[in-house]
Amino acid sequence: MIYEMNYDSIDLTYPAPEDEPARQNYYIAAARKIVSVRSRQKGRDLTACVKTFGCQMNERDSEKLRGILQEIGFVIIPEEEADLVLYNTCTVRENANLKVYGRLGYLKGLKEKNPDMIIGLCGCMMQEHQVVEKLERSYRFIDLIFGTHNIYKLAELLNTVLANPGRMMVDLKETTDTIVEKLPADRTYFFKSGVNIMYGCNNFCTYCIVPYVRGREISRRPVEIIREIEKLADDGVVEIMLLGQNVNSYGKNLDETITFAQLLREVEKIDGIERIRFMTSHPKDLSDELIEVMSTSKKICPHMHLPLQSGSTSLLNKMNRHYTKDRYLTLVEKLRAAVPDISITTDIIVGFPGETEEDFQETLDVVRRTQFDSAFTFIYSRRTGTPAASMPDQIREDVIKDRFDRLLELVQKTGSKRSARFEGRVMPVLVEHKNEQEKHLVTGRIPQNLVVHFPGDESLIGKIVKVKLKECKGFYYLGERV
Ligand code: 5AD
Ligand code: SF4
Repeated sequence: MIYEMNYDSIDLTYPAPEDEPARQNYYIAAARKIVSVRSRQKGRDLTACVKTFGCQMNERDSEKLRGILQEIGFVIIPEEEADLVLYNTCTVRENANLKVYGRLGYLKGLKEKNPDMIIGLCGCMMQEHQVVEKLERSYRFIDLIFGTHNIYKLAELLNTVLANPGRMMVDLKETTDTIVEKLPADRTYFFKSGVNIMYGCNNFCTYCIVPYVRGREISRRPVEIIREIEKLADDGVVEIMLLGQNVNSYGKNLDETITFAQLLREVEKIDGIERIRFMTSHPKDLSDELIEVMSTSKKICPHMHLPLQSGSTSLLNKMNRHYTKDRYLTLVEKLRAAVPDISITTDIIVGFPGETEEDFQETLDVVRRTQFDSAFTFIYSRRTGTPAASMPDQIREDVIKDRFDRLLELVQKTGSKRSARFEGRVMPVLVEHKNEQEKHLVTGRIPQNLVVHFPGDESLIGKIVKVKLKECKGFYYLGERV
């Protein structure tokens, strides 16, 4: 916890203040009282489980949700057999929604056994009107629904739920106009942390639902970001991941003029931070200034996640991506020239409407020429409300499957070949956890983000140690400490 609060000193006989975060602190104090009474009645701690679906932005939001729940007095547990279960949902592809619907039946069963259980759903999927209508119609056992713009309000919403058992509380907002700072967060790792630098997205790639569910792009003020990272560093964090849907356009909506590259320069100055990562970069906004900062930095990790989506310029145009195949390849060349050993990873979509075999061959061509370290490959998912959903020439499933298999084979071949390039070298590894299968091993990452397993014990977790990468096993290494 990096912002200490004394909740017992908050006078609940006054009405809740209007300004944030004072208002949420007031509601945390109020919920603490109720939870403490219930816990005494039950003769045990109340437990809460926050389950995350989707990306690192959601992972970070879940840390904030857990932080608030902990302050309220819940003991956080990983299992869903809890007094409060919160699903932080994703909706980027249809599959993500299906997973949530699939799990809801299970939660219903748990609630039948524990009628006091509170079930909440939040995050991206809740920003879709048709989803919420369906939940209101057919999933009446849900107690709380909120979206992406009011995560910070969990304590306030929970007070309402606690006061009105059996009623479904729905709180949704279309946009975020303010960013609430200084609320609690419960970090998953003590030595590394995500840091939001911006929220939302303005790019409207034609296949993508994110701009509709996460709202317009809004950057956090640099002073708030720096203050948060300084506190994290004081708290023992050595690696940070700056998070945004398109970090390369950081600062565009701020009054002060600052670019992402300039922000990185400021972050670099913070003592205690050893590694800086960021995600995600959009090729259209990747500046020479950023490449220059990466090439001179001692702390920015030589890793760039640069979603390609497609190698066909005509398809990129239909996707509203604002770059060409050649521009993408030039960026890769520039990055490789400026940052030796950089690893480049990507996202690729197969089966976008109108994709021909020739378009697909262009994608394979970029994969062959770029030699990505790894790539996330996705089958195009039709998202209601996006322009691509109503485009002609939706591609047949069997055609997509065939292309997907061919792409995956190539990506794995080039990826494993490229990942092996550090074999025999000694690299700094940040140790993250004990190996699940082999108890004598620990697992960490080199700056290029590749995973290494090597003999070691728990005391190494959170430390950066030198490891010889002895053998590459496809996408990970076996190593030995030197
Ligand atoms: N279908 C398939 N993949 C998608 N992505 C975003 N929207 C869709 C969609 N409708 C992928 C993109 C993006 C990643 C996070 O998810 O590749 O970079
Ligand atoms: Fe979606 Fe494009 Fe925004 Fe990424 S940049 S979140 S793919 S709209």
